[in-house]
Amino acid sequence: MAIQWFPGHMHLTKKAIIERLKDTDVVIEMLDARLPGSSANPMLAQLTGSKPKLKILNKQDLADPARTEQWLAHYNSQPATRAIGLDASETAPAQRLIKACRELAPLRGGMVKPLRVLICGIPNVGKSTLINTLTGKKAAKTGDEPGITKLEQRIALAQDFYLFDTPGMLWPRISVEQSGYNLAASGAVGRNALDEEEVALELLDYVRAHYPGHLEARFKLEDIAGLSTDELLTAIGRKRGAVLSGGRIHLQKVGEIVMHEFRHTGLGRITLESPEEFQAWCAAAEASDAEREQAKQARNKKRKGPGKNAAPASEDDPDADDDQ
Ligand code: G4P
Repeated sequence: MAIQWFPGHMHLTKKAIIERLKDTDVVIEMLDARLPGSSANPMLAQLTGSKPKLKILNKQDLADPARTEQWLAHYNSQPATRAIGLDASETAPAQRLIKACRELAPLRGGMVKPLRVLICGIPNVGKSTLINTLTGKKAAKTGDEPGITKLEQRIALAQDFYLFDTPGMLWPRISVEQSGYNLAASGAVGRNALDEEEVALELLDYVRAHYPGHLEARFKLEDIAGLSTDELLTAIGRKRGAVLSGGRIHLQKVGEIVMHEFRHTGLGRITLESPEEFQAWCAAAEASDAEREQAKQARNKKRKGPGKNAAPASEDDPDADDDQ
């Protein structure tokens, strides 16, 4: 699916993060517990290198608890990394957050060497909600529109503990196709950027394979195993009355219904990826990128090759101007 990304002023965000990292002891990355791998920003991993990291698996109230445990174990096994699950129902998350950060940077603390923590996350992951809970304020959400300048926010969570909020927005980079679908299903992608029917079909494909009982129970369907995913979408449309004149199913509407159900736990608590699945998707994406790059280089070589008879660039070649 071609998701139309609007990276906005991410280069400004990148510059601001690089600047802030010079005086940062621990980086908190907020992830969506329903799609931890897909909701991470790979650029952040590059920028932060070996800095101690706290991964917050947020919105855990929406995610499959068993899968959240798997992801926490996965991150906790990585060097200089801790992970905690969180959701907005936790009214005083500061203690857990401070404790985890102190463990990650035991040499910092006290008035002379306060612990300096940077918090980052892609849009919609729940960062404003968490910061509002931490500060006890109803702060305005800023910076998610291009052109809106967001000032860096420093929050003192303890006398020797400063939390810095990233200025600007960190968008996910979608190199893994399945991540695009998962981000779209979660609501992290603006409505204009996605095709509801396509996203719903991908979502149903995954949910029927991993949580079939959830679908049958929610939509009062029996034995969905005998249906193709298209037929399943149609059956849901019929159940929910998304029918056009002439009896055709309004597929976009059903797509919206399925996504709404997923986002608001109508389908139960669901996680769309396991650490192993996500790693396999990344490996497959890397392999196909490498294959594509190789093919492109071979074409370029042919074009630029010796003699006057080198083949001209074809107008149909999707990669013809990749290097420009
Ligand atoms: P952001 O600053 O990272 O962009 O996210 P923000 O805090 O604005 O949260 C995005 C949406 O997610 C909000 O819902 C918020 O209420 C919801 N949210 C945040 N934390 C949690 C959580 O732990 N659990 C659940 N279930 N929801 C959470 P919204 O304004 O209604 O937006 P939307 O849900 O319609 O996208």
